[in-house]
Amino acid sequence: MQEEEIFPNTEIEDLKPGMMITAYTKFESKYKSVDEKTCQFLQHNFRKTRVTIIRDNDEHEIPIESLRIGDNVRKIFDFPPELKKLQVINEKLVQALKARGFLAFDVKQPTLEKEERKELKNAIDTVKRSLTASEKKEHYKKAKRDAEKFVHELKENVTTRQQTSKAIENIMDDARRGKINYDGIIEYVDEITKHASAEAMSAIVSLKQSDQTYDHCVDVGVIFQSSYYKIKDKKQAKSIFETKNKALLAAFLHDFGKSKIPKDILDSTVRFDRESREMKLMESHPKFGAELLSGMNMSNNIINMAYYHHVKQDTSMNSCYPKEVPYDQVIYETRLLSIIDAYQALVGRRKYKKSWNPPAAIRYIDALAGVEFDIDTWSDFISVVGLYPKGSLVQLNDNSTGFVMSIPSDDLNRPQVAIVRNAAGEDLEHHTLVDLELEQELEIVKDLDIEETFGADALNVFSSIQIT
Ligand SMILES: [Fe+2]
Ligand SMILES: [Fe+2]
Repeated sequence: MQEEEIFPNTEIEDLKPGMMITAYTKFESKYKSVDEKTCQFLQHNFRKTRVTIIRDNDEHEIPIESLRIGDNVRKIFDFPPELKKLQVINEKLVQALKARGFLAFDVKQPTLEKEERKELKNAIDTVKRSLTASEKKEHYKKAKRDAEKFVHELKENVTTRQQTSKAIENIMDDARRGKINYDGIIEYVDEITKHASAEAMSAIVSLKQSDQTYDHCVDVGVIFQSSYYKIKDKKQAKSIFETKNKALLAAFLHDFGKSKIPKDILDSTVRFDRESREMKLMESHPKFGAELLSGMNMSNNIINMAYYHHVKQDTSMNSCYPKEVPYDQVIYETRLLSIIDAYQALVGRRKYKKSWNPPAAIRYIDALAGVEFDIDTWSDFISVVGLYPKGSLVQLNDNSTGFVMSIPSDDLNRPQVAIVRNAAGEDLEHHTLVDLELEQELEIVKDLDIEETFGADALNVFSSIQIT
């Protein structure tokens, strides 16, 4: 049998695609005596690994969960399978490693034997997952129905979103003139709950250009309501809201304080200076919101969500406002809302800024969890939207391109994908649906930018998905 060759202490410049890191061995100086932030960063991103550290002049080998402030990190190793993304070398990973101050690694070249073992494992997995031909047919029939339903909902939701965001604009304009149209708000919340589907709405966020404030409120409201109840269902826990509409209302009103901000500032596409009057005013919207909502006799939970939704776990951050609030006053619902708020802001397509692909936004926030966002709340969110949210555009290892149509039940890397473009780059008229949980030889190799790939036509391409 062929032995696997390990190349110890390979410098970052010498990493090549196809190599696999077995240990991180050399670090920038900040890892020599880790501070709280670095400690949290490591514990979050390197979950379940082991580390070699120097503590009190002695070398110890400990689970990363036991890492403490002041420890000198010498080696990170023993990666669980779910952290493969931190081991398999590709250009993106190298850049990320550089940015984070990792300097050298033990690496191995996967050998043929290893490849064969992988194939064998895949074969076993396939057998394990393999259904009888008729079971598989039934499975795909249902998947097709679900996918078609999703496409249909998305088309309907485009109209709902347009109407409701126009309504929000009116409500905010009224509020700006000192008139709070409470009945109007409730009526629109009812409308949205009746018509909107959260997954469709999240997908629209990345498919269609939008206004910054009004669509944002609708999107955040709908995504919050649905993910919140899914999380509560999973945990068999109780909602703090009396009704589902109240949950939507709470999230929907998180930026209501913006109605106190002059429209030209609110709709401006220029970035204001940190110390400018405009920025100070913008940063007062949580306070304005809380005041308005308490004047409307809204519950404390709803007020908490408006007041604290820009508070970061690390409250010393510039982007944290209001300042000097203890993080434990930020209720779970507000923590979840702040994640969705950030997610929508990244993914939302605006005229003046480049938007993020949903999976890239997920990875970005993932890296901030533990510093800006509460890790447990983040894990809850991921468990209901997946790593590739529905509507994400991805490329498979056979070079075909498709939209993600499901949240996988088991392996979050393996959703169902509707193939819209074949390996030769030809757009298809009839689309096939592949379930990556069943088709083990296929996998996602990268996520694609919807706008770059389809331009203004993105929504049309998605809406015309027809599964054969
Ligand atoms: Fe806000
Ligand atoms: Fe917001």
